[in-house]
Amino acid sequence: MSMRDSGFGAFLALIVVGVIVAIVFAIATPGSDSVDPETLVAARDATGGAQTREDIMARQRGLTIDDSFRRGATGDPDRAAAATGQLGTLGGVSDAEMWRALRYGSASTSASSGGPAATVLIQDGGMSWLLLRDKVIAKWGGWLLLGMIAVLAIFYALRGRVPIAGEKTGNLILRFGGLDRFCHWLTAGSFILLAITGLVSMYGRPYLIAIMGKEAHADFAQWSKIIHNNISFAFMLGVALIFLKWVRFNIPNWNDVRWMIVLGGLFDDSIHPPAGKFNAGQKIIFWSVMLMSIGVIGTGFGLLLPFRFEVFGDAFAWFNGLGVLSWLGLGDLPTPLSPQEEMQYTQLVHAGFGFLFMAMIIGHIYIGTLGMEGAFDAMGSGYVEEQWAREHHSIWLDEVQAKDGATRPAE
Ligand code: HEM
Repeated sequence: MSMRDSGFGAFLALIVVGVIVAIVFAIATPGSDSVDPETLVAARDATGGAQTREDIMARQRGLTIDDSFRRGATGDPDRAAAATGQLGTLGGVSDAEMWRALRYGSASTSASSGGPAATVLIQDGGMSWLLLRDKVIAKWGGWLLLGMIAVLAIFYALRGRVPIAGEKTGNLILRFGGLDRFCHWLTAGSFILLAITGLVSMYGRPYLIAIMGKEAHADFAQWSKIIHNNISFAFMLGVALIFLKWVRFNIPNWNDVRWMIVLGGLFDDSIHPPAGKFNAGQKIIFWSVMLMSIGVIGTGFGLLLPFRFEVFGDAFAWFNGLGVLSWLGLGDLPTPLSPQEEMQYTQLVHAGFGFLFMAMIIGHIYIGTLGMEGAFDAMGSGYVEEQWAREHHSIWLDEVQAKDGATRPAE
């Protein structure tokens, strides 16, 4: 990758940020589908305070409604009928109240095995998780990946392959040795397998069953999951090695500012801002890889070891306490969370990071192969054309040549 590819990386990063902002707005902004809470409350007068058809319809449309009128209606011992009175055998709690208490997690339940997760008999958060997974993450994540491919196709059609602009010297220079390339391909190979198997988990049921049938899909999905869970360790190792090997080349400096000002010469073949081993765009890719790896690995462990870590409930409570949401006119995040809800939020964040990561890597793969002449060699043979290095990493080239003049003639 050169300064151009990484300028392009920065350009893609901007697009990704734009898409995230659009998604956040799309989720946060109530659409024309919103319902007036007053209308719902008024309608409940006719049912003596019980939920109405309007409540159910609003919930099914995925709208957030204030359901405290049900959450709290879980029986009041002070109003219990006497043991000899009507309904007295229920101990003051009607069936409906008991089911509500189970549903909203306020019933006192215990289980002899299985831990706290086993005491949840009805999991109220399941439906909203499913809606978020299918209608937000799967839908927008899919569009993000397709959008990225479309943007790259348009870019390629308009810009073509970034060429080696100057005269080639016929000399090759070592850019990445065997260990560097091993670390990179360990990470890249495992990432691609994780991406494919992750997409099978996300889209297998809606799309693959239609193609291969339920039986074959069941086997396929099972293998996919086994590969996903185990190959993750190779990915972790690869990312850790990449970090150790390359972090010293990725510390930002003033050259990066100059590089960013001309966007790495992305739109002009005659501009070649000086750069060290990695230019500003590549540093953005490097640090994004690290950040997103922390995201997918952290949540991945949460999914691999179910019900062991509970972080979202505490994080939500802390965030609600800041008051930012009420300041924005939005409701508080739900707390406390059942163990199942903790897992569901972990899954949503894992998938969210996964999609952002895949979108970025699609851009990275493009520029490392089709998008730029001479770039792939750096990770293929390890040797790049001297002129390529001059145009994209001049400071690094000068340093290497001053040290050991490490060039060799091209075969
Ligand atoms: C088919 C897939 C891939 C190809 C063809 C590819 C290609 C390349 C090339 C040619 C370079 C060297 C750039 C240079 O000489 O400066 C590079 C660097 C790098 N690659 Fe990949 N790569 C692939 C997948 C991945 C994946 C999946 C990851 C991480 C999850 C990754 C992370 C990196 C990082 C962090 C760098 C250094 C920073 C940069 O150059 O942007 N690569 N890659």
